[in-house]
Amino acid sequence: MAAREPRVLRRALLLSVAVAVAAAHASGELWIVPVPIWVAHAASDSKDGQVAAGQAVYVKHCARCHGEKGEGIEAPALFGQAENPLVSYPNAAILYRYVRFLMPLDAPDSLAERDYWAVVAYLLVRNGVIRENVPVGPETAEQIVIKR
Ligand code: HEC
Repeated sequence: MAAREPRVLRRALLLSVAVAVAAAHASGELWIVPVPIWVAHAASDSKDGQVAAGQAVYVKHCARCHGEKGEGIEAPALFGQAENPLVSYPNAAILYRYVRFLMPLDAPDSLAERDYWAVVAYLLVRNGVIRENVPVGPETAEQIVIKR
């Protein structure tokens, strides 16, 4: 437990950075995609296999650091563990913000909006938080509580 503390502290710091980045985006031109379009994307992706799409994103953009099996190589484990490693993120919306604005570590905020939602859906399914048919997007994420 004590060994986890530094990472938890660091994560709190990183999250505050992520929130600041989000605020910067919100006030700038990068945030002009109208909400209804994202909602449509999230909804159609989940029907056509959001989790499968998320797995493809994971393999392409995350596995080199977090491992093909989520075991962690140069980075923390994300799934496939006895305990859900994502329990310190209260809900899917917060996990999404972390992942979008800080990951991939060497290219944050570089993927498409829907790819970020898809990879979050994949992480949640792999940790048994939700079932595959639960759509993960801006309209559902806050209600998706992450627990062990
Ligand atoms: C270049 C290596 C690298 C890549 C690529 C990368 N990550 Fe990370 N990731 C890290 C490192 C290192 C950390 C730990 C950051 C810290 O705690 O200081 C991390 C932390 C995380 C965390 C938090 C884990 C925890 O225990 O709190 C999540 C979630 C995450 N990454 C998801 C992703 C996803 C999803 C992708 C692909 C879109 C991705 N990462 C791509 C290196 C990477």
